[in-house]
Amino acid sequence: MALRKLVAGNWKMNGSLAALAELDAIAVAAGAHAGIDVLVCPPFTLIPAAVARAPDLIFGGQDCHHAARGAHTGCVAAGMLKEIGAAYVIVGHSERRADQHETDADVQAKARAAIAAGLIAIVCVGETEAQRDAGHAGIVVSNHLDGSVPPEATEVTLVISYEPIWAIGTGRTPSLADVAEIHAIIRAKLIDLLGRAGERVRIVYGGSVKPENAADILSVADVDGVLVGGASLTADQFVPIVEAAA
Ligand code: G3P
Repeated sequence: MALRKLVAGNWKMNGSLAALAELDAIAVAAGAHAGIDVLVCPPFTLIPAAVARAPDLIFGGQDCHHAARGAHTGCVAAGMLKEIGAAYVIVGHSERRADQHETDADVQAKARAAIAAGLIAIVCVGETEAQRDAGHAGIVVSNHLDGSVPPEATEVTLVISYEPIWAIGTGRTPSLADVAEIHAIIRAKLIDLLGRAGERVRIVYGGSVKPENAADILSVADVDGVLVGGASLTADQFVPIVEAAA
């Protein structure tokens, strides 16, 4: 089933007020292709200025806390992101699962908080290189989904991002057949968990997506978009990826 494509940029801990100038050309490209969603997830601190600069683009955060408020120094609640104009939030990125020791249960709680606050949660899943070499990629991803997809999620409130950890920032990508295999496993698991809604939850691919490989990756069955790291930081790299999805 052809779903509306999502082209998302995860700036990670990169960017500055000056870097928001990149949004100008990205907004033009997004405006020219109304049939797809173009999302940029800058650091929290840049979101208000990003929204002001490119009000027609879609913005998101890169994490949120599972609680709505409280004594959690340094954390940001989903409702706070919503209030400053974010529409999405990434949760469970492998860098946070590694650096902040986030578990599937933590990720599920964050996704639930995001949905309760009116945001769309992008839940990230993916295997390490050792897990892939051992033939366990499918089961690892399946277990991530079992533990981190909120039962109340629907195609309106949830996106899954398949990001093989060994492909992030390395210039390496799985074969198209391997992408197809894992996305099919994710689709089947989403239907198992969410019923009919699982047929329409978008599944995006992330990990060394570049202008050179975006069209091929986006042509794979059940690839409903891409989540782009390094190549989302500049318009000259990100705009061709937007165009590849259009
Ligand atoms: O969230 C996207 C990311 O992890 C992929 O990063 O730099 O390999 O495109 P990159």
